[in-house]
Amino acid sequence: MAIIASNFKTNHTRKSTAAFIKEIDSFIKSNSIKNEIMIFPTATSLDSFEISENLKIGVQNAYPVEKGSFTGEIGTQQLDEFGIKTILIGHSERRHILKETQKQIAEKYNFYKELGYTIVYCIGEPLEVKKLGLEKTLEYLYEQFENIDTNYENLILAYEPVWAIGTGVSATNEDIKAVHEAIKKKIDKPLLYGGSVKVENVKEICSINSVDGALIGTASWVAEDFKQIIENTK
Ligand code: G3H
Repeated sequence: MAIIASNFKTNHTRKSTAAFIKEIDSFIKSNSIKNEIMIFPTATSLDSFEISENLKIGVQNAYPVEKGSFTGEIGTQQLDEFGIKTILIGHSERRHILKETQKQIAEKYNFYKELGYTIVYCIGEPLEVKKLGLEKTLEYLYEQFENIDTNYENLILAYEPVWAIGTGVSATNEDIKAVHEAIKKKIDKPLLYGGSVKVENVKEICSINSVDGALIGTASWVAEDFKQIIENTK
């Protein structure tokens, strides 16, 4: 069974999120989709739809606290109101744009792990590291597991090469295979691929043995496209 996840990033309004989720939910029902479908909408939209048992809804980020003085952040007191138990941690946009350090990421990871959340944990290397070859790439990726308990039962990994995110150019099947196989040898957890996955390439990527699904940004934001992606990985 594959895991197909849509990360909205900073896209969609409450209205369009509600419409999107309703459409995907009924598509899953009427097509007897067996794959696990996950959606990470913006936090502002979490009460704009009914959470259905067909879909796993997660947050793209939260702070490792219940509540307190952390301006601009949300904690578990807020997440509990929506019944959220799934979180994305370590996304490259948070590592590189928001400058989250591995120490902060690990703190967040450990906090949400203690609470039993499903954690989709992202790792990925920038282009300058990829250019140094597979060995250096793996070294860089393994550093992103520092202080992360990879035996955690509710852990899902996502390999997202930074250079493939939002560029329209996915990693080659060979690149994906090489990295996924190496990681899988060390960590026995579901491993998604992310980085310019789209309607046209999702089937091929997900048919690679060491790929357990996809984490999709851009190509998943239009419901028709996401339905096609789900259909193509049935
Ligand atoms: O979380 C999703 C990834 O960052 C991939 O984004 O599909 O737009 O390349 P993308």
